Amino acid sequence: MRPKLVVGNWKMNGSRANNASLLAGIVDGLGKGKGKAQAAVCVPAPYLQQCADTLAGSELAWGAQDVSVHASGAYTGEVAASMLTDFGCRYVIVGHSERRAYHGETDQQVAQKALAALNAGLTPIVCVGETLDQREAGQTNVVVNKQLSAVLELLDGDAATRIVVAYEPVWAIGTGKTATPAMAQEVHAELRSQLRARSLEAGEKVAILYGGSMKPDNAAELMAQADIDGGLIGGAALKAADFLAIIDAAK
Ligand code: G3P
Repeated sequence: MRPKLVVGNWKMNGSRANNASLLAGIVDGLGKGKGKAQAAVCVPAPYLQQCADTLAGSELAWGAQDVSVHASGAYTGEVAASMLTDFGCRYVIVGHSERRAYHGETDQQVAQKALAALNAGLTPIVCVGETLDQREAGQTNVVVNKQLSAVLELLDGDAATRIVVAYEPVWAIGTGKTATPAMAQEVHAELRSQLRARSLEAGEKVAILYGGSMKPDNAAELMAQADIDGGLIGGAALKAADFLAIIDAAK
C-alpha cells in the first residue's frame, strides 16, 4: 500500500503574518491526530526560511514550487535545487500548468528540473494534465503520457521510483470544476500503467496525486480510487481547517 500524501500548493499567496497562523493551525491539527496522510506545503521561495524555522521537527514537510535546471551561475532570478535543500525542503513542484502556460516551460525543461531536483536529494512533484480543448479532442491520455515520458526518458536506473506525479486537469484548476472520481481514476490508471511499463517498482512505488478543485467535500471520494494516492491542493490549502479536513479524508 502506498501511503497517502497531501500537498498544499500555496501558489503566489502568503505573508509572514498569515503564514504563521496557517502553519500553526495545520501543525496543531496534525498534532491532535487529525490526518492519516503525510502532509507538506509548497510555499513561495521567500517563505522557505519561515517554514524551516516553524516546521522543523513537526509532521508537516515543506517544499518549493519551481527549481532551476542549472546548479549555479549567472542565471538571475533562478533558484537552484541545492538552495532548496539548504532550507530543508523535501519536495519541489515541477511543470505546474501555470508555469507551462505563463512561462513557456516545455516537457524537456520540466524533465531537466525533475532531474536537477533528484540529483539534489529532493522529491520532484511532476505535474501533468490536459486543457479543456485537449480533453474534448480525446487527447487526454496522449498529452499526459507525453508529459510523463519526457521525464522518464531523462531518468536513469531507479530514479523513476523517486518521483511523485500529480495529475492536474488544467480545466479543473481554480475553477470549482473537479474531475469526477471515475474520470480522474481513468487517467491515474493510465499513468500507473505507463510507470509500470518503465519498471514494476516505479508502478508500485510512485504516488500519483490528483489536483484541481479538491476540497473537503470531494476529497474522500477522489482519494478512495485505487490509483489516487493523495492530492495537490491549491485554494483549499490556504485555510488550515480545509487543508486538515482533506488530510483527514485520506484513508
Ligand atoms: O497545484 C494545485 C492546483 O493547481 C489546484 O488548484 O485551487 O484548483 O485546488 P485548486
